[in-house]
Amino acid sequence: MHIDPLERRWFYVIGVMIAAMLVAIFYTGLAQGIHPPSNVESVDSARLHMTEEFSEDNLGVHAGEDGALTVVMVAARYGFYPLNIELPSNTPVTFRMATPDVIHGVHAPGTNFNVTIIPGYVSQITTEFSEPGEYPLLCNEYCGLGHDHMWSRVTVVPPDQWQGP
Ligand code: CUA
Repeated sequence: MHIDPLERRWFYVIGVMIAAMLVAIFYTGLAQGIHPPSNVESVDSARLHMTEEFSEDNLGVHAGEDGALTVVMVAARYGFYPLNIELPSNTPVTFRMATPDVIHGVHAPGTNFNVTIIPGYVSQITTEFSEPGEYPLLCNEYCGLGHDHMWSRVTVVPPDQWQGP
C-alpha cells in the first residue's frame, strides 16, 4: 500500500501531539494532584444562612474528633467568608463551600486549590498547603460588578505555630 511521504510525516506529528496531551493529563493528575471534584451534594441556596453548617457563626476552621481539618466557607457577592483563614502547613484540609447567589470560582494561585462553586451544590475538595505563607483566594468566575474585588486570604503557618481552629 502506498502512503504519501507528506501524509506519513503528519502521522508522526499527530502521534507526538497525542503523546504530549497524554503526558500533560497524567502529569497534572498524578504529580500535581489536579482533577475534577467528585463530591455531589445539594444544598438549598436560598436558605443557606438558615442551615446548620453554613450559618454565619459556623464558618471557618473545624477540627473533627480524629483531628481532620475542615474549612466551611461561603462565597457570596463579593467575598469569601470568613475573610482570613489560618491553617497549618503540610496538613490535609477539606474545604466545604457554598454560595447563596450566583456561580463563583475560588482559586489559590500556585496551588491545586481551584474549584467552581455552583448555586444549589456543596463544593468540596481536600488539599494541603506545603509551604507556609500567605495565599490569596481569588474569584475566577465573573459574578458581577464587584468580581474583581472578590478575594480573601489563607495564612499558612508551620504546624507547631498553628493556634488551632
Ligand atoms: Cu465571585 Cu467573581
